[in-house]
Amino acid sequence: MEQNDIKTFFSTELLGWYRLIKRDLPWRMNRDPYRVWVSEIMLQQTRVDTVIPYYNQFMSRFPTVTALAEAPETEVLKSWEGLGYYSRARNLQAGAREVKERYGGIVPDDKASVAGLKGVGPYTSGAIMSIAFNRPEPAVDGNVMRVLSRYFCLEDDIAKPSTRVGIEKLAVSLIPEGAAGDFNQALMELGALVCTPKSPSCLPCPVMEHCAARLSGRETELPIKTKAKPPRAEFRTAAIVMGSGEQEGKILVRQRPETGLLAQMWELPHLLLPPDKAKLLADTAPKEQGELAEMISRMLESDTSMLIRPRSWFTDADHIFSHIHWKMRFYLADLGEEAGALEAAAASAGKGNALVAAESTAEYAADARAGQAEASSIYRWIGKEDMETLPFPNLFLRILKQFWA
Ligand code: ADE
Repeated sequence: MEQNDIKTFFSTELLGWYRLIKRDLPWRMNRDPYRVWVSEIMLQQTRVDTVIPYYNQFMSRFPTVTALAEAPETEVLKSWEGLGYYSRARNLQAGAREVKERYGGIVPDDKASVAGLKGVGPYTSGAIMSIAFNRPEPAVDGNVMRVLSRYFCLEDDIAKPSTRVGIEKLAVSLIPEGAAGDFNQALMELGALVCTPKSPSCLPCPVMEHCAARLSGRETELPIKTKAKPPRAEFRTAAIVMGSGEQEGKILVRQRPETGLLAQMWELPHLLLPPDKAKLLADTAPKEQGELAEMISRMLESDTSMLIRPRSWFTDADHIFSHIHWKMRFYLADLGEEAGALEAAAASAGKGNALVAAESTAEYAADARAGQAEASSIYRWIGKEDMETLPFPNLFLRILKQFWA
């Protein structure tokens, strides 16, 4: 069979298959470009099953571009809580604000304008242009690269940008006339349901007959992808400081800086350990109270001008981000006798129960060396009920659930 016939076979069979079996997903209800945009951002790095409830909740809370543009940022982060990769939420809102200001709240229908929006890369702009406006643009992500590498037996490393560019050219040439949206979603659907990474189900595959990888028995070898570096380990000591007096029943939390990892999310205070102290966390039996509990307490004292008394080990926890692996030890700690210092500091900060930390503590010096310079941090006493409004990353949600259980 000629190469062109092999391509036509692929496009025709795949499109027909998709139209028969496509899943009834909430973002497929209509072609509203805003709905498509939100879904494509949520679906980056996140599975369909996980996305569905978040998507429904997000769309009822922010049903239009304008509603999203006008919402307070914390509310947007709160509705993203648990999904991870929070810069997606911040960029999506920044993009919505651009659409409101520049395009009167209507998502533009030209590729250059869509591609210029904050947080919209080549994949997302292709997905929006094809799914919402049926334009023949490629939408090539890792799943699509896998499907096409297998069908055409392509051996280029899909971790390389030049490979993606080549596959985008191929993908455009496969789009059937007038069916860009359905065809691109068909490719995604095949990658999600049939041509899966580890054990592709070739028997029910609509294009198996001419799949070059299967014909040469190489479907599990392809695609070729060089491995990313493993995430760098960071050892951190952390505290749950329990209030007393006016702060009885509350705990001390802080908001992360405006930029960088987990920007603007709330967290339990913690401190990056220098390499010589990191060994303590790796070696010491967790229940032993010692230097690490002292270190986080001293850091908090210097940040907040309060007396902090470590009490006991609480738990160890891990979290892996794309480039960093946090290994953390949490201690319980109490607010010392002279708790009055807090109220004085809070009053002078003029923020009710919030207070601004002193600059350049050991934590920030260490994080600055790690490339995350930050100057100050907002601390607050919160009760369990505040968890309903302040956005926390999963790691801290787990710890706080356990603490308040
Ligand atoms: N993954 C990325 N985009 C998708 C979509 N529109 N439908 C299903 N899975 C997807």
